[in-house]
Amino acid sequence: MGQISSQGARMTSPVCVIVVGAGSRGENYSNYGSIHPERMKVVGVADPRKFARTKIQQQHKIVDENLFDDWLSMLEREKFADAVLICTPDRLHKEPAVAFAKKGYHVLLEKPMATTADDCREIVEACSQSGVMLSVGHVLRYDPNPFIDQYYGLYLLICNFILFFQVGFYHFAHSFVRGNWRNEDESCFALLAKSCHDIDLIHHWAGGRRCVKVSSFGCLSHFRKENKPAGAADRCLDCAIEKDCPYSACKIYLDRVKQGHTGWPVSVICPSSFPDIESVTKALKTGPYGRCVYECDNDVCSNQVVNMEFEGGLTAAFSMVAFTEELCKRKTTISGSKGELSYDGHQIRVFDFLTQKSTKHTAHSNIPGKYGMSGHGSADYHLIDAFISAVANNDPSLIRSGPEETLRSHLLVFEAERSRLENRVVSCGDPSQN
Ligand SMILES: NC(=O)c1ccc[n+]([C@@H]2O[C@H](COP(=O)([O-])OP(=O)(O)OC[C@H]3O[C@@H](n4cnc5c(N)ncnc54)[C@H](O)[C@@H]3O)[C@@H](O)[C@H]2O)c1
Repeated sequence: MGQISSQGARMTSPVCVIVVGAGSRGENYSNYGSIHPERMKVVGVADPRKFARTKIQQQHKIVDENLFDDWLSMLEREKFADAVLICTPDRLHKEPAVAFAKKGYHVLLEKPMATTADDCREIVEACSQSGVMLSVGHVLRYDPNPFIDQYYGLYLLICNFILFFQVGFYHFAHSFVRGNWRNEDESCFALLAKSCHDIDLIHHWAGGRRCVKVSSFGCLSHFRKENKPAGAADRCLDCAIEKDCPYSACKIYLDRVKQGHTGWPVSVICPSSFPDIESVTKALKTGPYGRCVYECDNDVCSNQVVNMEFEGGLTAAFSMVAFTEELCKRKTTISGSKGELSYDGHQIRVFDFLTQKSTKHTAHSNIPGKYGMSGHGSADYHLIDAFISAVANNDPSLIRSGPEETLRSHLLVFEAERSRLENRVVSCGDPSQN
């Protein structure tokens, strides 16, 4: 008899996966195989960075012939796994997703699906035509707090959603000013990169009601050359006024590694070695993460708001803000005719208008204690767990972030961005505007 997965589905032998892109996310999802070797086995990895692919090779005992320095050479090999985890940079999602789907691999694709609406459509089409499952890395859909299913339906005829995403001041400086998501031409616009998650959640909460209108405003505040303080140097290590700068790379990276902290964001800045004081200092001297935040080639928005109207008059407001104390935290308020629900990522509070009493609920997730995944609480774990169960049992219903709904929410993100760029309200799904 097979194992029982945490999705409650039966599994007989491990699902074999290959990893395309062995960076933070690739490593994160691969960890599932170390925790549950009976459920998932990583049998191949492709990444141009030797350090990254060797790390995954050693962790999962992958044979040398299944190591590739590019996803294309991996694709040339006859299909040798059940599924592929595509964790490459944003602009390198569509091509491998389509190609591996056509080769018959089930696909776990990191978000955003792709950087244009047409490419997103093409991925969904390829998966559908090839009869393979697609799960997109919308981890928030796997938040173990079941407030949508268990609470909100009971209490509320929903009228409005407010979702406030606090990016975090140094997270923004790290990823969106100095790092991989700083420049739209190299990755994509910030709403797609960071908050396709959030728009997807709102879209899901709307429960099948179509978004009819969207408007959006936003810009890049502060992290511009004209705001560089007098006397600041181009690199933080050379800067005489670095001590007065909250965004100083010395504070964000060097001070952390000196205190023994080698996880994110320090781990990201040494792509070819384990971070220590020497390698971090070198990275700050020569690499992108040592640059003054006012001297980078960044252009993505630091603050953006999106307003949405769904069928039936349901309204929603989303804000993404760089300048926050909290890091990657979301605050949600759902207002209904019978009560109000608020959620801070840990605790759900429901206030009932009739009894004028509030109840509080905290979810407890049963993920393995030593599961070393970072970010999103335990949602990363539940996403990969659901995907592996879906593949093992040939049951796409176990995937919450499947193709059609995820495509619709991505299209809404593109429409929101169009509203911002064209400074007008966009009627959603209007073919004359596409
Ligand atoms: N779901 C989430 O919450 C979440 C969180 C962070 C990032 N992401 C997304 O996940 C993706 C990966 O992000 P990351 O933080 O792991 O980035 P990363 O830079 O750590 O990893 C990307 C890896 O892809 C590799 N790569 C580049 N070209 C390649 C090629 N031709 N073939 C194979 N590998 C190649 C890089 O060398 C790198 O190791 C991005 O699209 C990002 O936006 C999603």
